[in-house]
Amino acid sequence: MPEKQPLLKLESICKHFGAIEALRGIDMEIDRGEVVALLGDNGAGKSTLVKIISGGLRPSSGRIVMEGEPQEFASPAEAKAAGIETVYQDLSLCTNADVVANFFMGREITRRYFGIPVLQERAMEAVVAQAMADGGTNIPSLRTNVEHLSGGQRQAIELNRFVHWGGKLVLLDEPFAALGVEQTRRGLEMIRHVAARGIGVVVITHIMAQAFQVADRIVVVRHGQVAGDVRTDETTTDQVIDMITGGSLSGAGKGRE
Ligand SMILES: Nc1ncnc2c1ncn2[C@@H]1O[C@H](COP(=O)(O)OP(=O)(O)OP(=O)(O)O)[C@@H](O)[C@H]1O
Ligand SMILES: [Mg+2]
Repeated sequence: MPEKQPLLKLESICKHFGAIEALRGIDMEIDRGEVVALLGDNGAGKSTLVKIISGGLRPSSGRIVMEGEPQEFASPAEAKAAGIETVYQDLSLCTNADVVANFFMGREITRRYFGIPVLQERAMEAVVAQAMADGGTNIPSLRTNVEHLSGGQRQAIELNRFVHWGGKLVLLDEPFAALGVEQTRRGLEMIRHVAARGIGVVVITHIMAQAFQVADRIVVVRHGQVAGDVRTDETTTDQVIDMITGGSLSGAGKGRE
């Protein structure tokens, strides 16, 4: 595989729901270790796009190319197997199980004694402790049931789990919507941490300051099309607002639709 292949490339992705054209020819790329913030007004098509990337929806047309290979994800499980996953705050964690159980869910370490598989709890706990340490996450006890943890802690567990099991691209749809100031700050830090380990991150947010704080690049979606694809350090908030609303920096008199 040539070195220059982006982690993920979207080519002319379209999606319609009956007569509604949610996405109308989206082209974008995401590199390893890059954080891309997806911005856009309500109904612009952000969640639809993220669902298409993570296998929750099939595009009506267009191509998803991962590391140079065209992909057709028929389900989130297929995308996950390719290393792409959406991380939700708590939806995919089992609240009445502890951190270790959630981390290993379906991948438990067992040894057979007289033919009966026995969980290797100590070994699993050590793996989880290491993964949390690698992610800079401090969870008081790995034996705490997830229901007693905060939204931010759950997110951190999910991200660490994702990285540990070989994830390549993680998608976050408004990950901080329900979090407080301090939890959000830690979440943003966590995103940078994950990207620093070579993982691509796409994060949807409505909060401009968060996008500028965490992202290398901002992609603006408007009416199902890419209205802007800019480097954060070369862009101003006003420019991005104009991309979102369809305004024009140069002309106050220019009509908006
Ligand atoms: N399952 C669906 N069936 C019909 N229409 C849909 C469906 N999902 C999304 N849409 C429509 O597609 C368009 C894009 O929706 P989408 O949820 O992707 O927007 P969004 O950018 O995530 O908005 P928000 O910021 O409000 O979350 C909207 O017009 C929406 O009503
Ligand atoms: Mg949405």
